[in-house]
Amino acid sequence: MLKRQLPMAGHTRGNRSPITCQLKCGNACAHEAPNTSGNTHFRDIADAAISRRAALGLGGGLAAAVVVGAQAVSTAPTAEAHGGTHPKGGGKLEFRALNGVPKTVDDVTVPEGYDWKAIIRWGDPLFADSPEFDITAQTGESQSRQFGYNNDYLDVITDGRDDRRGYLVSNHEYTNENIMFSPEYIASNPEDVVNAGIAAHGMSVVELRREGRGQPWEYVRGGRRNRRITGFTPFAVDGPAAGSDLLKTVEDPEGTTVLGTLNNCAGGTTPWGTVLSGEENFNQYFVGTGAAEERRIGIKPGPTERKWETVHARFNLNNEGYANEANRFGWIVEVDPEDPTSTPVKHTALGRFKHEAGTAVLSRDGHAVVYSGDDERNDYLYKYVSRKRYRKGDKRHNMTLLSDGTLYVAQFRGDSPESEIDGSGDLPSDGAFDGRGRWIPLVRGNRSLVKGMTVDEVLVHTRLAADRVGATPMDRPEDVETNPVTGKVYMALTNNSDRTAQTADEANPVAGNRDGHVIEMVERRGDHTAERFSWNILLLAGDPAKSESAYFSGFPAEKVSPISCPDNLAFDSEGNLWISTDGAPGKIGFGDALHKVTLEGRNRGRVEQFLSVPVDAETCGPVIHDRDNSVFVNVQHPGEDGEWGKHTSYFPDYLPASGPVQVRDRVAVPRPSVVQVFSTSGNNGTGRGRRH
Ligand code: FEO
Ligand code: CA
Ligand code: CA
Repeated sequence: MLKRQLPMAGHTRGNRSPITCQLKCGNACAHEAPNTSGNTHFRDIADAAISRRAALGLGGGLAAAVVVGAQAVSTAPTAEAHGGTHPKGGGKLEFRALNGVPKTVDDVTVPEGYDWKAIIRWGDPLFADSPEFDITAQTGESQSRQFGYNNDYLDVITDGRDDRRGYLVSNHEYTNENIMFSPEYIASNPEDVVNAGIAAHGMSVVELRREGRGQPWEYVRGGRRNRRITGFTPFAVDGPAAGSDLLKTVEDPEGTTVLGTLNNCAGGTTPWGTVLSGEENFNQYFVGTGAAEERRIGIKPGPTERKWETVHARFNLNNEGYANEANRFGWIVEVDPEDPTSTPVKHTALGRFKHEAGTAVLSRDGHAVVYSGDDERNDYLYKYVSRKRYRKGDKRHNMTLLSDGTLYVAQFRGDSPESEIDGSGDLPSDGAFDGRGRWIPLVRGNRSLVKGMTVDEVLVHTRLAADRVGATPMDRPEDVETNPVTGKVYMALTNNSDRTAQTADEANPVAGNRDGHVIEMVERRGDHTAERFSWNILLLAGDPAKSESAYFSGFPAEKVSPISCPDNLAFDSEGNLWISTDGAPGKIGFGDALHKVTLEGRNRGRVEQFLSVPVDAETCGPVIHDRDNSVFVNVQHPGEDGEWGKHTSYFPDYLPASGPVQVRDRVAVPRPSVVQVFSTSGNNGTGRGRRH
C-alpha cells in the first residue's frame, strides 16, 4: 500500500533534488504558484521623488547604520529570556574561508583548525525508558520517545552562568520513508510506518552537558526538560480565531484543541525564553476537496504522498466532520522548553500561511514583534505587533503577548525607474536595488481591516486577505531575522523559478531567480513597530564564476565564496550575518553550506564559507556561539536521493554498506543530526580563537 513511487527525474523546476521537492513541500514548485491574485509586482516609482540615499547624501548601508545606530542594543532579546544565556566573553571565530565543496563529499567539511561532532541523531533515545533505536522495528510509540527526523530549526542555550549545562530545541520538519524503512517493512507494517512518520515530525527539547567552555556538548538521556512533541501532541489554540467555526471538527467541536504540529521549519527563541516554530508546507498532508481556499494554500484533491489518510480519517478533508482539519495547521506555535508538562499553543493572531519561521524581538517600548515569511513563489512577508508590552521576569504575562495584536503584510516599492529593472539583475543607475515599503494592517485585535472578510477569515485564510490589500509578491521568503547589534532586519529569498522579466521589480530583480537574494530592511526610526521601512538588496546570490547577476553590495565578487539559495539566517555576537543554504548543489554544483557575511564597514558584502554538509543534505538552524568558538547546524535530509540499501550518504555513523544494517547504535543509513563544529584549539575562556 505504501510503496513509494520515486519522482521522475527532471520533474522539478527548483534547485533541490526531485525527492526533496516531493517530500519537503509536496512538489510546490512543480505546480502553478497558488498566488493567482494578480497582485502587482510593483512597477511604481511614486516614491522615487525623494530617494532616501539622495536625501541623506549617503550610501545605502551607511545611511541605514545612521538611522538605526541610536537604538541598536535596545532591541536585542534580553538574556533574562531563557533563565539562561548564550556564552559571554572572550573568543571569536576566525577561519580561512572554504571556496565551495563538491556536492559529492559525504562529510561535514570545516575549516582548518576545526572539527565536528554529531550531538544527537535521528532515533537516539531521549528518556531513561525510551526504546533503543532499532531501524528494523520502528513504530509510532518508539519514535515518540526518540529524536525525530529531519531536524530544521535549532537553538542551543546554556543554563545561566553554568558553562556545563544547557539544552537544545529543534524541529522535525518532514520524513523520508524511502530511506527510513526497508521496503519489506513498509509492505508488512503500513500502519506502523504511518504512525512512526507522524511521530517523527514535530519538535524536541534535549538537555546537554559538557566539561567546560569550548568543549563539545553531549546530550543527556533522561534530562529533566527532555521532551518530544509530535504530530499527535495536543495543542491549545488561542487568539481571535480560537473557537471559530472554521477550526471545528468532529473530534474538536470547540475548535480549541489540535492534535499535533506538522512540517515545522525554522523558528525563533523569544525574549521571554519560549520557542516559536513555523508550520510550513502542511498542505501536503491533507486530501483536499478542491475548494478555492484550499487551492490558495496548495491543498490538492487526491491521495497524499505519505497516505496518512488511510490510517487517520482527519487527513482527508472529504471525510464527514473533518472539512476544517487543515485549517488547524499553518500557524506559529509556541513551546515553553523549560516546562515539559506545558501545553504548546497555536497562535491564530499571527495568521495562517506557510510560516517559514517566527522571529520575535522587542521594540524599544516593549512590544513583542514577530517577523514571518510565507515560503512560496510570489507570496508575502508578514509582521505581528503585540498590543501589550513585555514585562521583565513575568513569563506568564509574556506568554500572552502573541494572543492579541496587529498583523501586517509588507508592500515594497523601488526608487529606480521601471525601465532600469529588466530582470537581468544589472544594477539600476542609482547604484542600488532599494526603496521604501509599508506595513499594511490586516487585523487589529479582534477587528478585521480587510473589506469583505471577517477576522476569522483573515486569520485562517491570510493569503487571500493579503491578496486584497496589495501585498508585494516575493521570491519565496524564507528566514527573517533581526540583527541584535544594529536592529536591522534581514530576509532570505531563496529563489523563484516563476519570476519573469515582466514581473521583475526592484525588490525581486532577477528573472528566473535561481540563486536567491537577501534583503536588508530598516524600520522607520529603528522602531520595530513602525508602519514604514526602507530596504535594499544586500546580495544577489550566485557563483561569481558562473553568474552574471551575483552581487555583493559592491564587494569584489572574485573575493567571495560561491553561495546559492539562502534559507536560514543567524548572527554572531558582533552582528555579522550567517546564511545557511538549501539547494546549492542543483545550481552551483557545491554542497549546501554555511557562510559568514560582513555587514558593516568596507568589507560589507564579503561572503566567507564556513562549512559544507554531506551528500544531499541541507544546512539548517545555524547557531553561532562565536565567543565559545562553536557553530551548530542541523544537517537535514542527508542521503535524500538514496534508496534503502543503496544510500547516497552514510552520515554520521558511516557504518559500511557491505555489512549489517545496524551494529549497536550505528546504522548503515543516513541520519539527520545536530552537529557542533568546534575549534580544535578549544576555548579556555581567556580570549580569542587562533587564526589558522
Ligand atoms: Fe522548510 Fe522554506 O524551508
Ligand atoms: Ca534604486
Ligand atoms: Ca527553510
